[in-house]
Amino acid sequence: MKKMLIVYYTWSNGNTERIASQLQRAVGADLERIEMVHPYEGSYDEVVAQGQREVNSGFMPDIKTLQHDPADYEVIAVGTPTWWYTMAPAVKTFLADHDFSGKKVILFQTHGGWPGHTLKNMEKACKGAAAGPSLAVQFDSSGGSKLMTAEKDIDAWIRDVKQFL
Ligand SMILES: Cc1cc2nc3c(=O)[nH]c(=O)nc-3n(C[C@H](O)[C@H](O)[C@H](O)COP(=O)(O)O)c2cc1C
Repeated sequence: MKKMLIVYYTWSNGNTERIASQLQRAVGADLERIEMVHPYEGSYDEVVAQGQREVNSGFMPDIKTLQHDPADYEVIAVGTPTWWYTMAPAVKTFLADHDFSGKKVILFQTHGGWPGHTLKNMEKACKGAAAGPSLAVQFDSSGGSKLMTAEKDIDAWIRDVKQFL
């Protein structure tokens, strides 16, 4: 069985991709982005409003089949931007589509200052998995790409992840 797969979704600025790539460079895992079958269209504000409707209704959009099968890996890291205090809908679909029992999971989120209950909700969705060190990374509150969390905190998390593997 292969060691570790990092799966992430990103929409606004690639903030979540940035953290996923940083983890990948440090641990040497396979890396894959979640893509929606019908990607969002429209302005930032329109997607913020659509995202709110989707989160509130528990909507799970169709996502494309991944190139890597999570079933082949011992450890799955999953990263999401925070959407309305929880994971983005595409990540909800990904977690619902796969069986994480007996696996190790590492969960991370990016956010703009209101992380909500994202990591807890993700952990609940990974039934039967052993959750390792998780991380919430803050970017600026206007939805931009300025990193607010200290790099040393991200480095410390990466060290913890390596210990957990
Ligand atoms: C639909 C939507 C909802 C959001 N909801 C929140 C939120 O509840 N709390 C928060 O801190 N940031 C929220 N944000 C900001 C993003 O979580 C933040 O900018 C994130 O780092 C974007 O990651 P990305 O560039 O990987 O998409 C929201 C952004 C969008 C587009």
